Amino acid sequence: MGQKKVRAAYFSATDTTMRVVTFLADRISAELGLGPAEEPFDFTLPRKRAQGKAFSSDEAVVFGVPVYAGRVPNVLLKFLAEIAGNGALAVPVVLYGNRNYDDALIELRDILEKDGFHTVAAAAFVGEHSFSRILGAGRPDEADFALAGEFAREAAGKLRAVWEKKESADGKAFEQGPVPVRGETPIRGYYQPRDRKGTPIDIRKVLPKTGPECTKCGLCARLCPMGSIDPEDVSRYTGICIKCGACIKKCPENARYYDDEGYLYHQHELEEGYTRRAEPEFFL
Ligand SMILES: Cc1cc2nc3c(=O)[nH]c(=O)nc-3n(C[C@H](O)[C@H](O)[C@H](O)COP(=O)(O)O)c2cc1C
Repeated sequence: MGQKKVRAAYFSATDTTMRVVTFLADRISAELGLGPAEEPFDFTLPRKRAQGKAFSSDEAVVFGVPVYAGRVPNVLLKFLAEIAGNGALAVPVVLYGNRNYDDALIELRDILEKDGFHTVAAAAFVGEHSFSRILGAGRPDEADFALAGEFAREAAGKLRAVWEKKESADGKAFEQGPVPVRGETPIRGYYQPRDRKGTPIDIRKVLPKTGPECTKCGLCARLCPMGSIDPEDVSRYTGICIKCGACIKKCPENARYYDDEGYLYHQHELEEGYTRRAEPEFFL
């Protein structure tokens, strides 16, 4: 097997995706005898998505996104469609907030295949829900990382086998079908929260508020994955809010909050409806 590299690539507003995919990349790299993984490609901030990204055929990429409304976050679709896989192997990973990942993993897998990656293993993990500090609290936890370690060992074995097979194909076309994952084709629509009467709740225009605790440190403006918070006046928005939770959960003063009735209803409904522990799922 020629010189190979393992790398994590991710969007992660509240760090759960980052923690899982960097752990997996390091473990897979170690299992393959390659030492620590390469520098991760973190495309959470807008400037990292301002230009395209290309990978190479000697790389395996553990590629992670959070689940938004049962799907890959739609604000990432344009950027993701323009990535060049160039025959790199990929391990698609989604993080979801203890409700369900619906069709997010199959959607991510298909995007990566279309980009020119070969997907060989995949996983769905649970992270604390972006809308809550109770739902999926503390996830990924020790038990999740123990399972992630086992998955990394098996994924590394599969990556090695595929690389060996590719090299022994001796210039002949290498055929590798996408890794089978749970999800429907055609992909279903975005998950729609509803109120008590079954009327859809539209939280797209909802914006977090800034309380008197705010010290104007500007961290939220620097962290916003949409670059939508005005650094001169952090209570002002200059673009869209995707409700990712970064400015809320990372504010050192706990100064940001939601007061929208529909948002809060949806938050409580999720917290009450999804108390059971969802477990990670693996596809090899
Ligand atoms: C707009 C939005 C929609 C979400 N939709 C879902 C969902 O459909 N199912 C689910 O279980 N979690 C959902 N979540 C929760 C995130 O998938 C989860 O918290 C994830 O761990 C966040 O990843 P991050 O920490 O890398 O940002 C949603 C979060 C946001 C912000």
